[in-house]
Amino acid sequence: AARTRDDLRCPVVVIMGHVDTGKTKLLDKIRKTNVQEGEAGGITQQIGATYFEKKTLLAQTARLNETEKFDLTLPGMLVIDTPGHESFTNLRSRGSSLCDVAILVVDLMHGLEQQTIESLHMLRNRGTPFVVALNKVDRCYDWKTCKDSPIRDALKVQPEGTMQEFRSRASDAKLQLQEQGVNSNIYWEMGEDDWENSDFVPLVPTSAITGEGVQDILLLLCQISQRKLWRRLMWCANLQCTVLEVKAIDGLGMTVDLLVVNGYLREGDKAVFCTLDGPIVTEIRGLLTPPPSREMRIKSEYIHHKEIKGALGVKVIGNGLEKVMAGTPVLVVGPDDEVEDIKAEVMSD
Ligand code: GTP
Ligand code: MG
Ligand code: NA
Repeated sequence: AARTRDDLRCPVVVIMGHVDTGKTKLLDKIRKTNVQEGEAGGITQQIGATYFEKKTLLAQTARLNETEKFDLTLPGMLVIDTPGHESFTNLRSRGSSLCDVAILVVDLMHGLEQQTIESLHMLRNRGTPFVVALNKVDRCYDWKTCKDSPIRDALKVQPEGTMQEFRSRASDAKLQLQEQGVNSNIYWEMGEDDWENSDFVPLVPTSAITGEGVQDILLLLCQISQRKLWRRLMWCANLQCTVLEVKAIDGLGMTVDLLVVNGYLREGDKAVFCTLDGPIVTEIRGLLTPPPSREMRIKSEYIHHKEIKGALGVKVIGNGLEKVMAGTPVLVVGPDDEVEDIKAEVMSD
C-alpha cells in the first residue's frame, strides 16, 4: 500500500533534561500515575515508554482546543522517558537517536543546567525538532493554581508580582538558550517567521504538579507532528525496530523491551538480534505491552498481543535474549529471506 498523509504513525517523543527538572512527573501528570514517587531516590535509571491513545490526547487537550480547533489525526503518541542524572549520558543519547521530536525540560527556577545543555546539543546534532518545557511554573511566588488549565488562562489570573517573576525567569531561560545558539520564544508570542524557521524553539511554561500548560505542550507536539513531520511519520510496513532495554522479569525470564517505529512484529516471527557474541535468531514467543497510558518499565497487567504495529513499545519474550545489546536494531526473517543475509544486515549498523 502507498504511504499517505492519511496514515500517519504515532510520533515518538523523547523527554530529556537535567536531573529532577520534572520529566517523569510530567508524564505522571498525563498518565494520572505516580511512577516518580516509586523510583529509588526519585531518580530515573532506565529508559521508559508510554503509549497514549488518540482519545487520551483529545481528552487532555480539549479545553485548549476549544479555541485552537486543531484537527488531530495522529493515532496516538509514544513517549520515551530518559534519566537526567549525569551518569546516564548513553541512555539520553539512545533516546535522542530514536525519537521524531523531543521535549527538553528546564526547571524554571534553575534555568539551563549541565545535562540540559548536553541534551540540547544531542538534539541539535541530530536535527531533531524540540520544544522546551519551562517546568515548575507553580513555584513562582504566590502562584494561583489553575489545575490542568491551558497556560494562558492560568497566567491571566496571576498577581502582578507573580507575573513579574515569571517574565523575568522566562527571559533568563531565553537568554541562556541564546548563549547556546538557540533562538526561542514563549510559543504564543512567536511570529509566523519563527514558526517557519525549523531551528526556532517554542517555550511552554508548565507545571507537572498542578498541570498548567500540560494541554499546551501536548497540543503543540501534535501540531508539530502533523504540520512539520508528516512525511517522516507516514506509516511504513518495513520493520524499523530498536532494543530499548534488556531485563529479567519475575515469571517471564529474560525479556527485551523494543521500540517498534514502523512495520509489524508478530508472535512466531523469527527475529534477529545483535548480541555480544554476534547475531542470534530466536522465535518471538510473546509480545506484551502495558495498558495505554502506563509506563512499560513498571511491572503491570501486561496485555498479550498476536501482532503489534509501530509505533509502539513492546516487551518481547523469547529464548537466548540474555546477551542482546540495548540500542541495536532488530530484524525479522521473512519468507523469502536468507537467514545469513539478515544476520549480516542486523550487525552492519
Ligand atoms: P530524573 O529522571 O531523575 O532526571 O528526574 P526528573 O526530571 O524525571 O524529575 P522528577 O519527575 O523526578 O521530579 C523531581 C522533583 O521535582 C520531584 O520532587 C517532583 O515532585 C518535583 N517536581 C517535578 N515537576 C514539578 C513541578 O512542575 N512543580 C513542582 N513544584 N515540583 C515539581
Ligand atoms: Mg525521571
Ligand atoms: Na528525579
